[in-house]
Amino acid sequence: MMSKTSHTAHPAPRRKLWGGRFCAATNAAVEHFTESLSFDQRLAPYDLRGSCAHAAMLARIGILSKQEAASIIAGLQQIARDIAAGTVVFDPASEDIHMAIETLLTQRLGAVAKKLHTGRSRNDQVALDERLYLRDVLAQMRGQIGTLQAGLLACATQHADVVMPGFTHLQFAMPVLVAHHLLAYVEMLERDWQRLGEQQARVNVLPLGAAALAGSGFALDRAFVARQLGFAGVARNSMDAVADRDFLVEFLAGAALIAMHLSRLAEDLILWVSQPFGFITLPDEFCTGSSLMPQKKNPDVLELVRGKTGRVYGNLVALLTTLKALPMTYNRDMQEDKQPVFDSADTVSACLAIMASLLPRVRFCRERLAQVVQDDFLCATDWAEQLVRRGVPFRDAHEAVGRAVALAEQRGCGLGALPLAALQAICPHFDCAILRITTAPASVAAKRSLGSTQPAKVARELRRWHRVLAARITT
Ligand code: ARG
Repeated sequence: MMSKTSHTAHPAPRRKLWGGRFCAATNAAVEHFTESLSFDQRLAPYDLRGSCAHAAMLARIGILSKQEAASIIAGLQQIARDIAAGTVVFDPASEDIHMAIETLLTQRLGAVAKKLHTGRSRNDQVALDERLYLRDVLAQMRGQIGTLQAGLLACATQHADVVMPGFTHLQFAMPVLVAHHLLAYVEMLERDWQRLGEQQARVNVLPLGAAALAGSGFALDRAFVARQLGFAGVARNSMDAVADRDFLVEFLAGAALIAMHLSRLAEDLILWVSQPFGFITLPDEFCTGSSLMPQKKNPDVLELVRGKTGRVYGNLVALLTTLKALPMTYNRDMQEDKQPVFDSADTVSACLAIMASLLPRVRFCRERLAQVVQDDFLCATDWAEQLVRRGVPFRDAHEAVGRAVALAEQRGCGLGALPLAALQAICPHFDCAILRITTAPASVAAKRSLGSTQPAKVARELRRWHRVLAARITT
């Protein structure tokens, strides 16, 4: 949301809510330098919800009358509706969203609104708003991760029988099923989904009631506020409650990991779509052209997913550095926590969304992959394993197949084209059966271990993921 502050609506410098001990108005440059309203406005819905719960609690412990609380809550709810309708213009002198809302409420309701801040500080208020906001972000982002996993699964299922070269060091290593490769990303995203889930528990603790740092002289019913706002618990130490931003750092770290995973997926796709690979095609709608070269169809979306990762990492380092060595408890430095968090939330969410719409549209080029995996050096490890089955120690088997590879390279042919006699001169245990394992489908079919790329095992994994994701969507 962009700033809705208007400089014409409030020409005269206004008195600050904290202005009692001040004789002079704030310097205009200072006002501009210290404000956070331009970027913390998006916390307004959370601030309003928190204030409603706080007002209800103040009535419950007898600090507000029932009528006072009712009129404050009605006023806050009206502000929420007006903000949603886009009709609210905040006072730019308000410094931050907390004071902007209180100022607006006071303009609308008069004296009664001045009672709302009893037993509360912006220090515990901002911590509350951020936790409420992050709770929504975590839930939404976990949903998006699930959607992307489903997209990967759809693509994997569609290409369940296609074999491709698997790489290490970006060199051909062993044949793998396309589905196996894609399911590796489903696993990564699963850890992201779980990681954000683990964060949900730590975020879901109420800081409100810590007041500025020491707690309040009023017997605030914090458990009531926690129930009202759906928190599972109440922060036990008022100083920690206002000083803690661990939950934001954890989120930024989780977001950085998601971005890293997406950057690797993007990079794989960028390589695969390039001419030397030619493994996949991307739909036109997800590519862009060159202003100069007429033939170009570029994977800019994927490059941006890869590129935005840098900023998402930067946000994590930015907040960690801001928090480093801050003395207890709240310090204004902490106002700098918001932009990195909003930016990482928005950026990662946008990347998850675009990847989820792109993935089901990726097409693997079966003919090209069939041609590429004809390189039977990909089966060298299978040959070594066959020699082991015939009693050759693995190290010797590795050496023997290595020499066979060297011989084939020398002759400019594949392993399968070597005469049996030449192979037996290297190692007498070579036989015709080994010579037949020269195709990628035979190589993947020869795999036996749990978690391998063997087609039956991959098919079982595909079915398992279908079940897991289907259950997640319905619950
Ligand atoms: N705008 C401030 C922030 O985002 C709110 C808390 C300000 N508290 C204070 N004592 N100045 O951190």
